[in-house]
Amino acid sequence: MELAGKNIVLGVTGGIAAYKAAELVRLLVKDGATVQVAMTEAATRFVTPVTFQALSGKPVFSDQWDPRVANNMAHIDLSRQADALLVAPASADFLARLANGLADDLLTTMVLARDCPLLVAPAMNRQMWENPATRRNLATLRGDGVFVVGPACGDQACGETGPGRMLEAEEILAELIAHFQPKLLAGKRVLITAGPTFEAIDPVRGVTNLSSGKMGYAIARAAREAGAEVVLVSGPVCLPCPSGVTRIAVTSALQMRAAVLQRVAGNDVFVAVAAVADYRPAEFIARKIKKAAGSSAPSIELVENPDILGEVAALPAPPLCVGFAAESEKLAEYAERKRRSKNIPLIVGNLIQDGFGGEQNTLILFDDDGQQPLPPASKIDLARQLVGRIAVLLEKR
Ligand code: PMT
Repeated sequence: MELAGKNIVLGVTGGIAAYKAAELVRLLVKDGATVQVAMTEAATRFVTPVTFQALSGKPVFSDQWDPRVANNMAHIDLSRQADALLVAPASADFLARLANGLADDLLTTMVLARDCPLLVAPAMNRQMWENPATRRNLATLRGDGVFVVGPACGDQACGETGPGRMLEAEEILAELIAHFQPKLLAGKRVLITAGPTFEAIDPVRGVTNLSSGKMGYAIARAAREAGAEVVLVSGPVCLPCPSGVTRIAVTSALQMRAAVLQRVAGNDVFVAVAAVADYRPAEFIARKIKKAAGSSAPSIELVENPDILGEVAALPAPPLCVGFAAESEKLAEYAERKRRSKNIPLIVGNLIQDGFGGEQNTLILFDDDGQQPLPPASKIDLARQLVGRIAVLLEKR
């Protein structure tokens, strides 16, 4: 319920992506927001107001002269209650009218009369998106403080492929949630490792662990929400990349190390959340190892993997290094020991039974100021708290 207590006015303009706005309303409501939908006349040609009314639980407004509004000032009344005004989809025509300050229907009048942030999710054919007039209008709107989310690149309803496609409803929701987070890491660059590593034995077998990547991905998302530029070096997981984050997919510890060392220069923060395999098979057998009847089980010789976090922390001018420690016992003792041996300012301890795999976790932060327990919460909540602590430590540097 990340939008609990928030009043969102959702403007829907005329375009085929209007059907995705219905899903967006559902997600907003599910996340705790109160949603008031306002449609342009053109939007009502694509999806009926009844759909939005059913999903939002509120009557939909589309007419500037709606007789249901006693004072005839729906544009003022609706926008005054809003914490944010979100227009999705925002058509090329709508953006053009906005950029020129036109107020010739309910939605444009509301936008002009608002005193809350405005986010727009453009949706149009790629030629319209690339048209110099649209480029000019977007630049004007950005200059006016409008937040532009998307568009994405891909297949379009017209059969063409390219930029201009509206972001998916989940992505727009994530952008809106991000919008409400404090920008504690604005201008900072953050490099994160997440997930397990997979150390191949032969083409079909390997050594790995049960890290799902959820904790690391939540931290990537939280850092991005806080305004940072985020690169996520990820082991093999089944998670979508958080919006606005650059993901580098790797498999083994050696690949993770190479990806990190290649990108670490210029970063302000390095957060090592990955459960990196401490050892890998000394030799990769190129063909599948066959079970030989009657012979004894083969043994696999292991060699130690490099300590990525240790290497980064030992650089001449390292970023602020944050490590993780997952332990099954003596959490404080082992976490502090790891913090000292790797010479890092902050280590985040979690118990294996709490941390691996699930949606929730319980953390303890260990740094020079002592211990700070973060009680059980969702991984994204904890990630936001951790980002808060990282911002404090960056200030102190
Ligand atoms: O992915 P989830 O399912 O959400 O689970 C999250 C988690 C439990 C995996 C995560 O919260 C966590 O604790 N990650 C670290 C796991 C661990 O105990 O790592 P470690 O003790 O092997 O390493 C300590 C630190 O050094 C870690 O920051 C690790 O990323 C880093 N390290 C370790 C070995 C290595 N070769 N290179 C490293 O950089």
